[in-house]
Amino acid sequence: METRAGDPGAFAQFDLSRVDSPAFVVDAARLRQNLAILADIRDRAGIKVLAALKAFSMWSVAPIVGEYLDGACTSGLWEARLASEFYDGEIATYCAAYKPEDLDEILRLSDHVIFNSPQQIVRCSAIIEAARARGESFDIGLRINPLHPEGEVPRYDPCAPHSRLGFPIDQLTAEHMALIDGIHMHTLCEQDLEPLKRTWDVAFDYLEPYFDEIKWINLGGGHHITRADYQRDELVEFLRDLKDDTGAEVYLEPGEAVALDAGILVGTVLDLGENGMPVAIVDISATCHMPDVIEAPYRRDRRLPLP
Ligand SMILES: Cc1ncc(COP(=O)(O)O)c(C=O)c1O
Repeated sequence: METRAGDPGAFAQFDLSRVDSPAFVVDAARLRQNLAILADIRDRAGIKVLAALKAFSMWSVAPIVGEYLDGACTSGLWEARLASEFYDGEIATYCAAYKPEDLDEILRLSDHVIFNSPQQIVRCSAIIEAARARGESFDIGLRINPLHPEGEVPRYDPCAPHSRLGFPIDQLTAEHMALIDGIHMHTLCEQDLEPLKRTWDVAFDYLEPYFDEIKWINLGGGHHITRADYQRDELVEFLRDLKDDTGAEVYLEPGEAVALDAGILVGTVLDLGENGMPVAIVDISATCHMPDVIEAPYRRDRRLPLP
């Protein structure tokens, strides 16, 4: 999967010897530029934007993120704790399955708790009701799978056949809708507006009968909004229409777009050898520092020269 990053920005002139190795180095000015773009979309469209911590959770810059965005989206207990300790604003937590022993704290920390299936909500209903009886206030959401794949890599596509992520939208009933306040979907990865529009077109027909009941719709992440060629004005128009059509509050939870081209990973070559090809021993690894290179698999931007 070729990365669709932009340019090295200020890092083209960065003196690598200024920092420890290994180190993730973030350009706060560039981060602010990205956040300002996201906040502008938020303001013009009248939506809310949460930062996805699973993509970028450098909590030392959480105060900067908080100046621009409405909160954080988290993927379980530990990220919800991180968000509540360091980040401002709302917390929306989605996890494919909650352990009953974690759920009390997740319900206490989160404003939106998003489940992967209605049957899980029913199974956890005693815990949910007890939390409400204690005076805790949160919304319950359901992640749906719109069954419309747009991903470049099927292994990384939540709409790939037999995906475990999200409740298949063609199984959704009025009884399921009665359990929830909001709808969540996350199906894109580094994508433009058109894939989002096509996905919403499919979801629209299934959700339209329930528009009166849906308090909020969270369109997940994967929107490459801060990339220079993203169709931002059209996105604003699309989001306004979606709000008008559904009457729901609309959320986006981008991760990569928050930090896009705002940071580098600095590493050092410690030894060089030869074994049928040049071999380098470095102080960084894909497993520790860039796990998505293995998972997705992402590749470095070949347009950028290596130093
Ligand atoms: C549920 C959810 N929301 C948001 C994101 C953030 O996506 P991205 O960093 O591609 O914007 C992810 C990433 O996997 C996710 O799984």
